[in-house]
Amino acid sequence: MLKVRIPATSGNLGPGFDTIGMAFRLYNYITFEVLAEGLEIEVSGEGAEEISRGEDNIVYQAAKKVFDKVNYHPSGLRIKLENNIPIARGMGSSASIIGGGMLLANEISGAYLSKDEIFKMAVEMEGHPDNIAPAIFGGMTISVVGIDRVDCLKIEPPKELHGIFAIPDFQLSTMTARKVIPVMIDRSDAVFNISRSSLMVGALMNGDLNLFGKMMEDRLHQPYRMSLIPGMQDVFNQAKERGALSVAISGAGPTLIAFVTGDGTEVAEAMVKAFKKHGISAKTLDLYPDVQGAVLVKTD
Ligand code: HSE
Repeated sequence: MLKVRIPATSGNLGPGFDTIGMAFRLYNYITFEVLAEGLEIEVSGEGAEEISRGEDNIVYQAAKKVFDKVNYHPSGLRIKLENNIPIARGMGSSASIIGGGMLLANEISGAYLSKDEIFKMAVEMEGHPDNIAPAIFGGMTISVVGIDRVDCLKIEPPKELHGIFAIPDFQLSTMTARKVIPVMIDRSDAVFNISRSSLMVGALMNGDLNLFGKMMEDRLHQPYRMSLIPGMQDVFNQAKERGALSVAISGAGPTLIAFVTGDGTEVAEAMVKAFKKHGISAKTLDLYPDVQGAVLVKTD
């Protein structure tokens, strides 16, 4: 029996669309046990009732890609998913179960693939690397998808930085949130984002959190997604007024993340209140970055 713990993630971080992401200390746990026959899937926690127990289950689909690649075919498999990351909220739930499922499948079949090879396969399945990279490696990651390789750099964020996640009580599929983004963009918008995402990374590496926060503006996806997240601009304004370093859509949304140092209670309350003004109820989580990524844990 093998068990993996894999963190929630926030993709994009404003200007780093499909490129930058960060892992946070909220975890899904997945357990694999080889059986004599059949496929048994147990799910508990967030969205348990929505998750398929059949062969189309994403954990199983991810595992199967690895089994097929290394030519290992378990006689039967029990998959247990303890789901703590909200589903379809922009907190990397699918990246965590794809990455976790692939890592476990690799371990159970003899660990023929490296973590980098698993990373590449997981990126192919998810379609973008900004959640997969921090889910597997932890920290803040910057990833580049090439023709036959994926490169990734991991940076450990300063210890005092944490994120207030305002999680609205509605789901938004990544597919829907990608459809509203134009295919062609203006050169000035490209420069706007390249300059900010580059300086954002440099600022974090230098530990300059104020500069890091100032750079978290975006023109490639957030303005277009605003119509899908009622109250977004108000939540942004309120969080900043209460001292947040920066605010961004977490991944494809609808969750919004405000970065803070010190006590984030006021920021959290202001975000919930601003959502409420627009008829949206939201809960908050105050999470510190995870720097370990996916790790195998002891089974009980
Ligand atoms: N980079 C992706 C997007 C993240 O913004 O669509 C999806 O989780």
